[in-house]
Amino acid sequence: MNKNDYDSIIERAKSIQKEWRTVPAPKRGEVIRVFGNHLRQDIEKIGTAIMKDAKKIHAEAIGEVQEAIDMCDFAVGLSRQLYGLTIQSERPEHKLQEVYNPLGVVGVITAFNFPCAVWAWNHCIAMVCGNSVVWKGSPKAKNVTDSCKEAWDKAISECFFPDTKFKDLLQVVDGDKTEAEWMADDSRINLLSATGSTAMGKALAPRVSARMGKGLYELGGNNGMIVSKHANIDLAVRGIVFGAVGTAGQRCTTLRRLIVHTSVYDVLLEKLKSAYSSLPVGDNFKEETLVGPLINQESADRMLSVLEQAKAKGYTVHGGEVVEGCTVRPAIVEATEQCDLVKTETFAPILYTMKYQDLDEAIDIHNAVPQGLSSCIFTDNVQEAETFTSAVGSDCGIVNINIGPSGAEIGGAFGGEKDTGGGRESGSDAWKQYMRRSTVTINYGKSLPLAQGIKFGD
Ligand code: UN1
Repeated sequence: MNKNDYDSIIERAKSIQKEWRTVPAPKRGEVIRVFGNHLRQDIEKIGTAIMKDAKKIHAEAIGEVQEAIDMCDFAVGLSRQLYGLTIQSERPEHKLQEVYNPLGVVGVITAFNFPCAVWAWNHCIAMVCGNSVVWKGSPKAKNVTDSCKEAWDKAISECFFPDTKFKDLLQVVDGDKTEAEWMADDSRINLLSATGSTAMGKALAPRVSARMGKGLYELGGNNGMIVSKHANIDLAVRGIVFGAVGTAGQRCTTLRRLIVHTSVYDVLLEKLKSAYSSLPVGDNFKEETLVGPLINQESADRMLSVLEQAKAKGYTVHGGEVVEGCTVRPAIVEATEQCDLVKTETFAPILYTMKYQDLDEAIDIHNAVPQGLSSCIFTDNVQEAETFTSAVGSDCGIVNINIGPSGAEIGGAFGGEKDTGGGRESGSDAWKQYMRRSTVTINYGKSLPLAQGIKFGD
């Protein structure tokens, strides 16, 4: 995109936000309610765009639009609940309050793998909080970006026709790395929310920080599962298969590391090998397919090269055969140690298995990677489960018991620690990042006492 066009988008985002910020939040919520209805109407259309661009199977593509619809419902309720505290003052006839006001322009950068839902996490919250949004979707998911923008424009027409100015509350920036850097450097963008690889986050975050900007990052994951000797193995197998091969291993929450108690390792591996061998892998538009192609040839080549490196290390590899083009069968790699290969996120369906003897060791292995997004343990033992969620347990932003690491609901805050970037999106109080908090002190008395009891000239 040319820089002048980009600049006019940002200037427009600033001016339209000045109008939107004065619309009461529950009225802004009403627009999101209508928008949610348009997503419901367009679910198949947007779903098909996701199937084309992100190469997801139908069920997962529809699930992704459903996630955006859920976000609308959440944001509608939230629009009446943007609460601040009132705080007791230490001074007589004084009151302290927290007041939340809109932030301004929110820049949203999304990846190919969740081209609709991750945008909706940001857009729906940003809207009810009174902001405008400038969205740089993935260049690989242009059809999805366009179909979401179309649904938004229809909602605005329904709410405000013949006045359509609020369509510009959502504007699209076409582009890639250069445009992302413009956004990172741009102090007219009050919050930059970026989802993608850790490399992308590490390139953008210093630029945002250099201008003292606010950044919200949801980056790579290298998510692990501990399978204890107290686990329901069949339940674990279901959780592992969806977690590791769903979306062809291209979720940031994909299960990549399996840490299994020695006593159940062999039986679990046999069950997994058998489940993997019967997986329908192929054309994502075919109804029976569960695992579609990877996003592109580069991605498939990377997967194959990592599997070669694993073999060179002496690890046993099950699966990983090319079906055709960039369609590859998911692979299980029996790693004897957590080497650098295992510590690196390869955005493909590769599942590394490792063994452990006691829970402390399992947690150490689990936490010894740079990423900290999602995690889980399968166990029916309450001590193990509670330990995993405690101070000495998982160091991730998402911690699950008897559920795989992927497929989070929108109601909780989504994001992770360490190289995952520290941001939290979607539910809970993630909305606070999209608003400017003022601490307000009101003196309703006739004297001016100072805090901390300071006497100044009296
Ligand atoms: C992502 O891969 O960037 O928890 C998001 C999940 C989905 C979101 C994934 N709800 O797997």
